Amino acid sequence: MNFRHMDIPFTPAEGQLFERIAQAAKSLGVPCYLIGGFVRDKILGRKTKDVDIVCVGDGIALAHRTAELLGPNIHVAFFKNFGTAQIRWQDVEVEFVGARRESYRSDSRKPAVETGTLEDDQDRRDFTINALAISLNEQDYGKLIDPFGGQEDLGKKLIRTPLEPSRTFSDDPLRMMRAIRFASQLHFTILPETFEAIRKNAERIKIVSQERITDELNKILLSPKPSVGLDLLYKSNLLKIIFPQMTDLVGVETMDGKGHKDNFYHTLQVIDNICRNTDDLWLRWAALLHDIGKPATKRFEDGHGWTFHGHDAVGGKMVPRIFTRLKLPLNEKMKLVRKLVELHLRPISLTKENITDSAIRRLLFDAGDDIESLMMLCEADITSKNKAKVKRYLENFELVRERLKEVEEKDRIRNWQPPVTGEMIMETFGLPPARR
Ligand code: CTP
Repeated sequence: MNFRHMDIPFTPAEGQLFERIAQAAKSLGVPCYLIGGFVRDKILGRKTKDVDIVCVGDGIALAHRTAELLGPNIHVAFFKNFGTAQIRWQDVEVEFVGARRESYRSDSRKPAVETGTLEDDQDRRDFTINALAISLNEQDYGKLIDPFGGQEDLGKKLIRTPLEPSRTFSDDPLRMMRAIRFASQLHFTILPETFEAIRKNAERIKIVSQERITDELNKILLSPKPSVGLDLLYKSNLLKIIFPQMTDLVGVETMDGKGHKDNFYHTLQVIDNICRNTDDLWLRWAALLHDIGKPATKRFEDGHGWTFHGHDAVGGKMVPRIFTRLKLPLNEKMKLVRKLVELHLRPISLTKENITDSAIRRLLFDAGDDIESLMMLCEADITSKNKAKVKRYLENFELVRERLKEVEEKDRIRNWQPPVTGEMIMETFGLPPARR
């Protein structure tokens, strides 16, 4: 193989794998290319995972030939209807597909897709940054094929569709969420024209399965700064459709000159705060939902102002319903999120003076092993702009943590049971009951 054209360095293992694929493609006479997320992430210097290969011909045949060249025990999983095949080599998942002219991942029930050229295939991909290909063909092995300026967009941190955006989004409306997910994951900007098309086509998200939508939502929550994606979901009108309880948090009402904070933007800040301390998806969900009961409990009390009494309990009750609707698991993860939402005000109540041991003990009992997660949520919940206030609140929580530790320690000593009983000692040594 000729490596001279190589623009992008592969790891030795990748080099070995791609050479085999190239060899297989050459023997079958089908041009083949690396494409999609792998190429994007390679250029960005991100960790790459799965490899997508597109060939101008039969992807399943190419997978089989590659497997033969890689070794005797390589299993090929293939899906004739979709014309795709997968192999696993070392820890890399490689997917093969023939280039298509039709929609890349159409949700329509007709499985027939016309075969096409590489360019046809690139046309039908979601974003310019995902339409980049690298040749695995002898004459230009390693060359980047970039018909839509994807490399430049990577440099400019721009998300843009290769074709007219409405067309790309109508091929697969999930791409509207993918655009926002990539913006949040990579900290990229969505081209205004592309974003406008998302706003216009938002309703079309309704035809996409809940599982795929929730998958994107989770990826947004797992991104470094989820507020970026959540705010874009809100501004694009998608959030109202996929998760209306969240948009109910938006806005500020004023009465008798008294307003309250915008609970939506407060929530986004709480998520960003907790993300600095944890990668755990479910703690991020707890942050997202901690105030979800506020709209339902909002009251204006004369002489007092806005209150949200009971929003913790009401919010907790909403958690299973929201998880059901979003097709999130209804297992112990849901129970954890519910518990954290229900308990998120309790540590604050323990920052007052003269708190008894039994009040502390009750919280330890109710939170159980999740006490640390609860404290983390409470600390993330401090979003005041007043630095002195933030400092004071954090110090108060530090005192609560100390009390928690103290009471736990006391209880541990009180509840300590010797591992050997007096009866056992008497029996072992043949002693009668006595001082000894
Ligand atoms: N793709 C697309 N439209 C979709 C999904 C995927 O055009 N709705 C194309 C894109 O070219 C994408 C490639 O298929 O790069 C692979 O898709 P996928 O593995 O879902 O996403 P990645 O881009 O690899 O990103 P990630 O792994 O982070 O999801």
